[in-house]
Formats: sequence, C-alpha cells, structure tokens
Amino acid sequence: MSDKKTDLRKEAEEMVASSPEKPAALSPEETRQALHELRVHQIELEIQNEELRRAQVELEAARSRYFDLYDLAPAGYFTLSEKGLILEVNLTAATMLGVARSSLVKQPLIRFILPEDRDIYYGHRQLLFETGATQVCEVRMLCTTAPCWVRIDANAAQDTDGAPVCNAIMIDINERKQAKKQLLESLEQVRRAVETTIQVLVMAVEVKDPYTAGHQRRMTDLARTMATEMGLSPKQIEGLRMAGVIHDIGKITLPTEILSKPTKLSDIEFLLIREHVQLGYEILKDVESPWPLAEIVRQHHERMDGSGYPQGLKGEEILMEARILAVADVVEAMASYRPYRPALGLDAALEEIEKNSGLLYDSRAVDACLRLFRKKGFQLEGTRF
Ligand SMILES: [Fe+2]
Repeated sequence: MSDKKTDLRKEAEEMVASSPEKPAALSPEETRQALHELRVHQIELEIQNEELRRAQVELEAARSRYFDLYDLAPAGYFTLSEKGLILEVNLTAATMLGVARSSLVKQPLIRFILPEDRDIYYGHRQLLFETGATQVCEVRMLCTTAPCWVRIDANAAQDTDGAPVCNAIMIDINERKQAKKQLLESLEQVRRAVETTIQVLVMAVEVKDPYTAGHQRRMTDLARTMATEMGLSPKQIEGLRMAGVIHDIGKITLPTEILSKPTKLSDIEFLLIREHVQLGYEILKDVESPWPLAEIVRQHHERMDGSGYPQGLKGEEILMEARILAVADVVEAMASYRPYRPALGLDAALEEIEKNSGLLYDSRAVDACLRLFRKKGFQLEGTRF
C-alpha cells in the first residue's frame, strides 16, 4: 500500500513539474486563503478516507458472515458445471461426504452417488437444463460411513461468464426415510394382526354356520374381482377383502335354528336376521385397522335409494366398498342354494342387479359385475351353472 502511495506522489509531482502553468505570485492574503482551502480539502480527504476504511471493514465482515453461513449451513451446497463437475462446494457437503473440500472440486458429483441411483440423477440433471425449472430428486450418496439418503434441489443459473451452471442444495433425509420405513413396518404389523383377528372370526363363523361361511368366501372372491375391475386402490381392495370374509359376522350371535331354518322366515325372525349388520358393527368397531371394516360391514345392506338398512343411507353416503359388497352379496345369495330354497340361478341374479342398477345398486359396481360374468367368464367358486 505504501509503495502505491509513493508511486502516486511521484506521478503527481511529475505532472505538476510538466505543467506549463507557473504559479502566479500571491499576495499574503491570497496565500493565507489558499492555505486555508488546502487545509479544508485535506480534512475532507481524511474524512472520505475514514469512510472508505469503515466501508471496507463492513464489507469484510459481511463477506466473513456470508462464508460462515455458506460453509456451516445445515445443508450441503454445490455449484456444478453443465457436465456435472463440482465447481464450488461448502464445508457441510464435504463433511457429509467425508471428503476434504479441496479434493471435491472438479470431481463429477455422480461419483458420490450410489450406482443404482445414478440414472435418477442423470434424469434430474437433464430435465433441469432442458426446462430451466427447479428439479428435486432423492438419491443415496456415499457418505462418511454408509450410503445415506439425500434430497437434491437444483436450480439452473449462469456463472459470471454466462456459462450454464447448476446450484444444488443437498439435504440429509436419512432419518425421514428411516422413520417412513419403520412406519411401513408398523402398518404391516397392524395389517397382520387384523388378518389374524379376521381369521379367528372366520373360523368362529365356520364352526357355527357353514352356509354363512361359504357365502362370505364366495362373495368376497366376487367383490374383490369387481373392485379390481373397477380400478379401486390396492388399499381399498385389501380392506374390501377383509370386510368381505366377515361381513355377516353378526350372524354368529343369532340362534342356529333361525340361520339354518329350512322354511320361510317369520317377520320376527326376519327382523332378528336384519340385526346382524349392527351386531357385526359392534363386534368390529374396536378393532384397530387401516380400513373402516366396521362401517363397511354395517353398510352392506344399504341401498342407493335409501331403502336399505340399518341407517337408510343413500348414494354417496354409502362407502364404495359397501356398495360393491351389496352387489356381490345379492348375486352370490341368489345364485346359491339356501336351506330354505333352491338356488335361483345366476341369470336371475344378474337380471336383478341389472334391473335395479342405479336404483338399489351402484351402477359402476353392477357394470363391473355384469362384465365379469358375461364377458370375462368369471365363475363363483364351488358353484355350477
Ligand atoms: Fe348380510
């Protein structure tokens, strides 16, 4: 700095010496005035100098704060070239990868991504430069001790020369992935526990009432195939299957004499039989499960026009799973033998649901059922037609 000052002084003196203007002789008063002006000018320069010095100190402090924030942020930052080479990287990223920051520069980022996940990253980078829109991907990276899940948020940008670059933020999501895995495992445990409970209930029905047991199995097979045909989600189909195999569970509380009565039921007996939906609901309502099993069971005798029981629900008020069970229930019951009557036949069953499609039965469920029997050769298990 002092050398620069000396050079400037020398340059200025040369300029003055080479100036054609010679200073005019000044009177004592003019000399005093000129000295005063010079003094004022000198003080002004000193004040400006001080302001510049302060601005420089503040700039340094801001730079230092920026680098602290950049380096110690709770996320890894990368600037990458269009080809994916690391141009800049913060300390957090280097620490996450367990590699010295200096040895990361000019390395391809892909080298630190697990080989199985590299295609995800290639697709992510390609989309980023093609669309210019922010891209997010989740990949496993080769971190300090073991592969760890990270989320990469990338933005397209330009460097100071206008070349395309990518600014990427890398966030450790290992704990979130771990928590999700544990949650899925817990859900699977609950699912297995519910399945066991359902199996126990199915066995109880089989011992008490073989007709109901066979009906529940065949009807579930049909209902599940209908739900698949209708494009319900795998979770809904699973719940439908669980509810189907025990939809008449409430009947185990009824006397066997009524259930297997070979003659027509009296009005009182019929009213008692109708109670099975509410009883089934009571049995299942406290079973913790990922599906609304108790509600599906309670609603399987509801009808679209509100003429069903026990609550007289209408249309959309009835769960889709219950609407499917209702159609499958009628078809299976009419097509099969009952202690008090011979089988009415599949054709009669299909005519019944076709005639009342949209009135009593959900039309999508009816369409799926008719398609299965008439076009796709579906057969009820253990029945002959
Ligand atoms: Fe029923």
